[in-house]
Amino acid sequence: MPKPKQMSFAEAATLPLTFLTAYYGLQHLAKIQPGERVLIHAAAGGVGQAAVQIAQLAGAEIFATASPPKWEFLKSLGIKHIMNSRTLDFADQIMELTAGEGVDVVLNSLNGEYIPKNLEVLAPQGRFVEIGKIGIWEAQQVQEKRPDVSYFPFDLGEVAQQQPEVIAQVSEALTHRWNQGELVALPHKVFPSTQITEAFRYMQQAKNIGKVVVEMPQVSIDPKSIQPEASYLITGGLGALGLEVAQWMVKQGAQHLVLSGRRAPSENAQKVIGNLETAGASVSVLLGDISRQEDVAKTLEAISTSLPPLKGVIHAAGVLDDGLVKNMSWQRFTKVMAPKVQGTWNLHQLTLDLPLDFFVCFSSIASLLGGPGQGNYAAANAFMDAVVHYRRGLGLPGLSINWGGWASVGMTARLDSINQKRWESSGVILIELERGMQALESLLSDSLSQVAVLPINWSKFVKQIPRGQKIQFLDALISAEPSFTQKSAFREQLEAAAVTERQELLTNQIRSLIAKTLGLPDTQKIGMRQPLFDLGLDSLMAVELKNRLESSLETSLSSTLLFDYPTVEALLEYLASDVILLDFSYDLDETENVEQEEIDNASRFQEISEDEMANLLAKKLESLGGNKS
Ligand SMILES: NC(=O)c1ccc[n+]([C@@H]2O[C@H](COP(=O)([O-])OP(=O)(O)OC[C@H]3O[C@@H](n4cnc5c(N)ncnc54)[C@H](OP(=O)(O)O)[C@@H]3O)[C@@H](O)[C@H]2O)c1
Repeated sequence: MPKPKQMSFAEAATLPLTFLTAYYGLQHLAKIQPGERVLIHAAAGGVGQAAVQIAQLAGAEIFATASPPKWEFLKSLGIKHIMNSRTLDFADQIMELTAGEGVDVVLNSLNGEYIPKNLEVLAPQGRFVEIGKIGIWEAQQVQEKRPDVSYFPFDLGEVAQQQPEVIAQVSEALTHRWNQGELVALPHKVFPSTQITEAFRYMQQAKNIGKVVVEMPQVSIDPKSIQPEASYLITGGLGALGLEVAQWMVKQGAQHLVLSGRRAPSENAQKVIGNLETAGASVSVLLGDISRQEDVAKTLEAISTSLPPLKGVIHAAGVLDDGLVKNMSWQRFTKVMAPKVQGTWNLHQLTLDLPLDFFVCFSSIASLLGGPGQGNYAAANAFMDAVVHYRRGLGLPGLSINWGGWASVGMTARLDSINQKRWESSGVILIELERGMQALESLLSDSLSQVAVLPINWSKFVKQIPRGQKIQFLDALISAEPSFTQKSAFREQLEAAAVTERQELLTNQIRSLIAKTLGLPDTQKIGMRQPLFDLGLDSLMAVELKNRLESSLETSLSSTLLFDYPTVEALLEYLASDVILLDFSYDLDETENVEQEEIDNASRFQEISEDEMANLLAKKLESLGGNKS
């Protein structure tokens, strides 16, 4: 919805929800006509005032309720019939004022006894627009009391989701009237975002008329070029992306870089630093833990005493330690949180007084979309995102970039091949170094506060989301994706197959999904009774395999599926008899499987070392719920 030309942002902030609600209710649903009588409850409130303007514009006669201290205000709007919103007297008053005829339309936001009273004052074939949410009546209740009345309860959020085209039409009609000056901004009181507490206190007193607007400070949107006479701090600067950013910054003209990390530079880092120095930049390596306030203070102190003024921070310190939350020790959780939570906060607090041009956090797409086994990492990055928004609210620079995985360097590139495949199969495309740096460059010269940089194949991504799982952030996108509701190809194949063929089909499908999850080339090597955890399935993969089975069979499965049915045979039996509602002719060749399994086990245990055996046992115990670390 574009801002009306002649209005300030604060004025425009009073419009959208109030006018959309009132216009949708009175014009779109009730189709209010000139000369009709309309009762507007709480007419001094935001929606109430918008409704008053819309009813006046439509040429309707207004009956308004409000608390007595607000009556004068309503009179100033030219309303003649004003009644108390705190008592039920309005009903008798309306009947008296209208010589017993009542009103044609009620716009209601009050509950309890007000609802039947509203129905009493409605003229025959009246329209009852209900914008309340709590304690409202069912259509049937209204029908029983007043079968002639049209009842319109609605929730604007739902309308926007289900009929976006209607909201677009209403918005267009309203925008036209605002631009023409036929409808005007509501009275409002502005608080700067730094006084948000006062704004809530003011609203709590319920004395305000119209809206309370919280205004964000103006942030300069001048492009922030890298300056040679400034210093720039890159936390995690000795890590993969940190070093890449350092090289990019020097190419952009930076002359003074500070790279920080806990460990001394690796050989590769030393080489890169050497090259940067050869190119004419001064590079200071300041070691310290970003999650320790004293270390950050020391780093900043060193910059302020011996380097040009600090003008920019790239916060790229981070650690990855994936695992299911239920298996995660507190130590593993805090290890990942430390640089992003405490570290970001330390940087924020200790640079508050510095006139920075930018404060960029290297966040991850995990905080927007989640990721298997990345609960700790997602939470840590979400904190950074929030700090950046908080900083912007304070009028400070801030940008959080939710990076997808980078292709050739960094923590994603270092993942093992199974985890890499997990990324690939989810539809996410890794970021090439050059493209990533281009994105960084363009974002630094923009004024956005949070941006995801994520090459992605959306159809592929949507297909692998487990059935029934909602990603709030992608709601609109996913509900619009037809393939999500279509039958899976395998399910169709299974249904079309003869009863005698289904067992083999399902067995092959289970094996193939196991092989995909484990990165195994040959599905037939997976024995029917071979425990999958012995094949290398870990708890993360167990969730992934369960998700794959869910998508392929179009069903919901328990998160403990693989712990309860840890072999192909157990899975097959369970899925065929308890999950898939199809007939199976079921037949297992017991001897062949037992023999094959015995051969497999015997040859495996002969080859296995004592350490490997101990590891296997520990894994097995963990998988059975014994992980107490
Ligand atoms: N690479 C990706 O695909 C990707 C994707 C999305 C987001 N990101 C984010 O981008 C940033 C850089 O990633 P990367 O791939 O370059 O990772 P990296 O190669 O592992 O570098 C991270 C650096 O952070 C430092 N660090 C970790 N904890 C620290 C602490 N408490 N205090 C100071 N330094 C600390 C590490 O050095 P020490 O261990 O020596 O301290 C390491 O050199 C991370 O924040 C990551 O979350 C990366």
